[in-house]
Amino acid sequence: MYKFDTLIERRGTGSVKWDGHAQLGFPADALPLWVADMDFPVPAEITEAIKKRIAHEVYGYTLATDSYYDSIRGWMERRYSWPVAREWILTVPGVVPAINLALHAFTKPGDAVLIQPPVYPPFSNAVLGNDRRLIKNPLVLVGDRYCLDLEDFEAKVVENRVRLFVLCSPHNPVGRVWSPEELSAMAEICLRRHVLIVADEIHQDLAFPGVRHYPLPALVPACNENTIICTAPSKSFNIAGLQTSNIIVPDPLLREKYAAAARCWGMSKVNALGLVACEAAYTYGAPWLDAAMAYVAANGNFVREYLGANLPQLKVTESQGLFLLWLDLRGLGFTAEELETFLLHRARLWLNQGYTFGEEGRGFVRLNIACPRARLEQALGQLEAAVNQL
Ligand SMILES: Cc1ncc(COP(=O)(O)O)c(C=O)c1O
Repeated sequence: MYKFDTLIERRGTGSVKWDGHAQLGFPADALPLWVADMDFPVPAEITEAIKKRIAHEVYGYTLATDSYYDSIRGWMERRYSWPVAREWILTVPGVVPAINLALHAFTKPGDAVLIQPPVYPPFSNAVLGNDRRLIKNPLVLVGDRYCLDLEDFEAKVVENRVRLFVLCSPHNPVGRVWSPEELSAMAEICLRRHVLIVADEIHQDLAFPGVRHYPLPALVPACNENTIICTAPSKSFNIAGLQTSNIIVPDPLLREKYAAAARCWGMSKVNALGLVACEAAYTYGAPWLDAAMAYVAANGNFVREYLGANLPQLKVTESQGLFLLWLDLRGLGFTAEELETFLLHRARLWLNQGYTFGEEGRGFVRLNIACPRARLEQALGQLEAAVNQL
């Protein structure tokens, strides 16, 4: 019914993933399984809604409508039992801009901001690029599962007088969907120590079947007072190029400050087509999303089984969601730089190198599995052949 197995040609569309090699200096023939978008076509209802909007032929500045807000509130209520008031929702053209905006609104140069590497690189870029102090509470790999180090978390908060914590929930790149206990423990420390939380929940909808994601304030109501929740339909429905995100700020004072910063930076209005796509996604997209995540989870199992049978020295860390797998390639015995060269020039694979997620990621790579299974088979075959030639 859905075309997850169809190999769609994306070259020639300006795709960062498929066309970015010349600008970024990567070999043209390396198979791209890196940047976090999907190689799947979006749900038909999204395309239909965009076509209908395009037929109007006028694309001026556009506001979110009543039905737009209702679609977000309905989604959060149905999927997460999270009642979101309409006025809590602020539109911003992307979650990365939204995080930078939060740093501007709530911290000043020199303030300490905590992150949990290995983590999505724009987090550290935002902290360092805005002259804030980067404080790290690294995740700990226990067996093949990444865990929190809560003792270190609180010690770092106290020692450095941390003002703001950028939480990644679920966590990119390691694919952990944090449990209620883990989330509650982090929330409790932040509430007690007066730390503001920016919860990047852009991967919220990508938990594997049977795994549950909890929006932080839905689990810990007190977090309504200290949390900015960054959400977007972009990862879930493969519409990242439409640059539309919904930042949920329950506390009125935080919201006024945040909204003022957004107005000041000209970031309170979003793309006219993004609004239409978001509304269609949250209104009609659930069956497609559930089918896509079942396909992605099966892709993950395929990679695990393939590596287990053919390249047992390479490991896949445990994940509970996301269309990204975090592979431990330290068994090859390379430095991070050697590993990158080997993958690009011998295996002819363009993956996200682990060291870009923080030095904690050296020896690891992130593999995007939101693609037809045949493409994954090709990639794993190339990897196996290159390893066997060593
Ligand atoms: C954790 C996380 N936050 C934000 C983004 C990007 O958000 P946006 O494109 O809305 O700026 C990504 C994309 O991969 C991500 O993984």
